[in-house]
Amino acid sequence: MTIAKPWLAPNAQAGSYALGMLGLEERKLLYHLARNTYSGEGAVVELGAFCGASTCCLAAGLRDNPRAAGHHVHSYDSFIASEPYLVEFIGAEFGATIETGQSFAAIFRRATAQFADLIEVHAGDLLEQRWPAAMPIEILFVDVAKTLALSGKVLGEFFAHLIPGKSLVVHQDFYHPTAFYLPVVMDFLMDYFSIIETGRDSSVVFRLEAAIPSDKLHSASLYKFSFARQQAALRRMMRRVGRPGRDYLRISECAAIGTYFGEERFRKALASAIRQARLEPDRVWSDGLAWCGDFKASRVRARLYGVPSLMPPPTPYDKAHLIWSAILSTVAGRIASSRLYGYRAA
Ligand SMILES: C[S@@+](CC[C@H](N)C(=O)[O-])C[C@H]1O[C@@H](n2cnc3c(N)ncnc32)[C@H](O)[C@@H]1O
Repeated sequence: MTIAKPWLAPNAQAGSYALGMLGLEERKLLYHLARNTYSGEGAVVELGAFCGASTCCLAAGLRDNPRAAGHHVHSYDSFIASEPYLVEFIGAEFGATIETGQSFAAIFRRATAQFADLIEVHAGDLLEQRWPAAMPIEILFVDVAKTLALSGKVLGEFFAHLIPGKSLVVHQDFYHPTAFYLPVVMDFLMDYFSIIETGRDSSVVFRLEAAIPSDKLHSASLYKFSFARQQAALRRMMRRVGRPGRDYLRISECAAIGTYFGEERFRKALASAIRQARLEPDRVWSDGLAWCGDFKASRVRARLYGVPSLMPPPTPYDKAHLIWSAILSTVAGRIASSRLYGYRAA
């Protein structure tokens, strides 16, 4: 079954321009998923509301959708500025001075006030939250899977309630290099999902086509994948999404390489990824490159695993896989360049 994509229409509305971390295309996507695609069969769940930009787009869609009467956006967030980038954003965009560890719940409440009756807030650490077993989820917007523990929680607690043949998952961080595990996990689950939108800003949308066996979901949430398996998964995902997603995922692959093999390997891989890129540079690409400018393997390991030493070290097979894949990339890059230059010369 194909799905209409009203968010691509030239006059598509975004529903809300409330301050937040979303691009315009993602806003249109969220608004139209809630406005046009949502049938009212299950809940609309937003994981990672921050100051309410994604909340407002989803709530505006529900407001304008006759099938959504009586439904809410279930908005999850700790509403605590736990990281410097949240503190900086609030200072720069809202002109509010808050310290790391302080609540920004008041900003969220103000920003979402016009939709208050369409929002059910679930405040607190997501790792301790539960979703009611009997309630199916029809739209799941994920902007919180910033660590492997959070990604595992999203899979174990929320993916289990998706409706086969209907539910949509929007992964907002799909193309962010630090979240290279998201395309890996989705590749692992691709027997059960199809991709219905390969990229609106950083977001990719999947539809659940068949029920995911609980042991498969459990394995996905544990994320015990070797480096070689992760790299192969990223390459498969590159082929599925096409351009420009493929070029964004090349940077994610560099992040995976750097996380396992350190800064020097990271820089070599990045130089090759930039050489191979064929996209028109855009915000997702330049944000990815900006993130790369400050790459530290130990920082990513700590972010993903809590304690860097908990990351399983690469095996000899992983090392061989890395070398082999670098050779293949070089050959592929040369062939692509010769075709490109041949074409230009012709
Ligand atoms: C990138 S922001 C979300 C941006 C938002 N969707 C928007 O439209 O602007 C990520 C959010 O995840 C939240 N978060 C991070 N870790 C969390 C946790 N353990 N529990 C609950 N929320 C968490 C942060 O508080 C932050 O608001």
